[in-house]
Amino acid sequence: MRSAKDFFKPLAVGAPEPVRDIPFRPSRMIHFFPPSNAKMVAKVPEIAPTVDILLGNLEDGVPASDKEAARAGLVEVGKTVDMGTTQLWTRINSLDSPWCLDDLTTLVGEIGDQLDVVMVPKVEGPEDIHYVDRLLAQLEAKAGLTEPLLVHAILETARGVANVEEICAASPRMQGLSLGPADLAANRRMKTTRVGGGHPGYLVRHDPDPADPDAPRITYQQDLWHYTMARMVDACVMHGILPFYGPFGDIADTVACEDQFRNAYLLGCVGAWSLHPSQIAIAKKVFSPDPADVARAQRVIDAMGDGTGAIMLDGKMEDDASVKQCKVVVGLARQLSDRDPELASIYGF
Ligand code: GLV
Ligand code: MG
Repeated sequence: MRSAKDFFKPLAVGAPEPVRDIPFRPSRMIHFFPPSNAKMVAKVPEIAPTVDILLGNLEDGVPASDKEAARAGLVEVGKTVDMGTTQLWTRINSLDSPWCLDDLTTLVGEIGDQLDVVMVPKVEGPEDIHYVDRLLAQLEAKAGLTEPLLVHAILETARGVANVEEICAASPRMQGLSLGPADLAANRRMKTTRVGGGHPGYLVRHDPDPADPDAPRITYQQDLWHYTMARMVDACVMHGILPFYGPFGDIADTVACEDQFRNAYLLGCVGAWSLHPSQIAIAKKVFSPDPADVARAQRVIDAMGDGTGAIMLDGKMEDDASVKQCKVVVGLARQLSDRDPELASIYGF
């Protein structure tokens, strides 16, 4: 057991002090790019200002033969591209891979001052975070960094889901979690073959009509990810960190992507991954509160005065609890507007 007083002490001599709170920065999309692809690297200066987070992916999706090139490509981006206010993240290879140690050593040593967050895939329990936590502290000390790197874990194994609260609590570095539906489906032996989204076979069927038992019965497709997302959101909020939906692989199906992202937004997630430029616009739309909702929420806040009691507004009862929800919506709209002047003018701030 660790004393509460030790929790905020650096884990290596000379490492920066751990953070006490995770700063909320606009995080509507984590845009993935493969740094081994020179064409993509050349586009980074153009893409960076259009996204909240740009992530150099070293893990799945990068062939084994390109792992070193991807690492070198990300170092080049970190050293040469001015990211402005856009966050630069990386997804390292998994802890059991032959590349993880060199990923961390090279990236922290070369561009540790440019990176905001290290995404760690296939996290199974707090012991994985403890390993990364100590190693990062040693590398930060060696590199002379003054700000600690934060850690984001992907929830993509059944054990990881079972340990989700302990993972969130494992280090002050924990910044957030993403749902990894593709690896999670495989690990759970779900019988899907896609990257995120629903499945037409996962449904409930309306009862038969007793007067016409053979008539076709309506079915309703269900959300395969609801349980995991709800657990993930609660665990993150409990520990003051940020939940994200992960990838949606059917790039052409922009409608279903928007639906999946919106389910995540409504349940409490702050953003999702974008795997293609077309998904950047979807995430921006979905994870920025709807202007009509912001206007309504502001009216409730104004009408509620000190925020206590109950009022009727347009036939609806509003009270202390609804004004709190309205403050969440308006607060998010204001935070996003600080970074996005176009949004500020849409909201009328
Ligand atoms: C993401 O990494 C996933 O496995 O869905
Ligand atoms: Mg995965």
